[in-house]
Amino acid sequence: MNLIKKLGIIAIGAALMAGCTPKADTAQSTDTETTAADSSAAESAKAESTDSTEMKKIGVIQLVEHKSLDIIYNSFKDELKNLGYVDGENVKITFQNAQGDMSNITSIVQGFEGDKQDVVVGIATPVAQGAMSLTKTTPVVFSAVTDPIGAGILTDMNAPDKGMTGTSDAVQIDKIMDLALQITPDVKKVGFIYNPGEDNSVTNLGLLENYVKEKNLELETVSISTSADLQTAAASLFEKVDMIFVSNDNTVAEAMPILTSEAIKAKKPIYVGADSMVMDGGLATVGIDYTDLGKETAKMVDEILKGKSVNEIPVKVFKDDLFIYVNTDTAAALGIEIPENIKTDKKFVEIKSNN
Ligand code: TRP
Repeated sequence: MNLIKKLGIIAIGAALMAGCTPKADTAQSTDTETTAADSSAAESAKAESTDSTEMKKIGVIQLVEHKSLDIIYNSFKDELKNLGYVDGENVKITFQNAQGDMSNITSIVQGFEGDKQDVVVGIATPVAQGAMSLTKTTPVVFSAVTDPIGAGILTDMNAPDKGMTGTSDAVQIDKIMDLALQITPDVKKVGFIYNPGEDNSVTNLGLLENYVKEKNLELETVSISTSADLQTAAASLFEKVDMIFVSNDNTVAEAMPILTSEAIKAKKPIYVGADSMVMDGGLATVGIDYTDLGKETAKMVDEILKGKSVNEIPVKVFKDDLFIYVNTDTAAALGIEIPENIKTDKKFVEIKSNN
């Protein structure tokens, strides 16, 4: 409450100041929807002259639209509101979706550099990597980066050393695979589909390779570079394996419903690396609630806006509070019986395809 009031007063101050500045930039001074693309010279000059009294600016880059990243961004925004930040009132949030394209990430990052954000939030691994050039001028908070060290965005999780900190969703490969073998114990050959351009998936494949070795399973992997490749990859892989596992690969997640329908066609189980992918028809996973991760990302942004520096905020890895998500509609469509001890587990969450 206090914070809202204080920031409100600052915002009024900024508005008055803007009213006093002479000429040209009046049209832009009321603009609350500036996009990264239209950072004109006048806009940056204005930002320089009145920066300290202006509304704080938060720039957000989301890799692509898929259910999990949308959940993260929405809970991030809700939590910011809880913390007293009201978009357009005492803070200006500029949201940009990179549509899965690295060159878009680069130009959005340049735009954010030009109009001097107070903090930039990068949702998903490729965005965090693309935002590294920003850290010279702007603190960066990343969200849902599976393996920050593997991705090269820091070397010290407790004292982030490359200008960005954030939240991590370490995938519980062993626990997901243990669950898979409990639900479908006859599995001998595992298929894995991923985009090798996503370092998060490269890390997960390494963990999966260790697991199959230990359990004497066979592994067949297929790589894709866009979600348009998923259907063909899945159809041919299902012919060779007993089940498919996909981790939290953004390229796969984007087209998850297609993978679900291929699984149902093949009558073989599809295990996944995120709750959202169970909502999109994947059979099961063991994992975190991503709304918690989105909230924590907002708390870190708050700390930075209040003056903490990035290296004082350790990365928060979400790996402890895990749930078992099972899509019972998919189970029925595949003719798979979910063992009673799973259904009665305190952490069991039943998902239906149509909600
Ligand atoms: N962890 C992913 C990354 O590192 C991003 C992500 C979050 C994700 N939730 C997901 C990917 C769900 C696929 C499905 O980029």
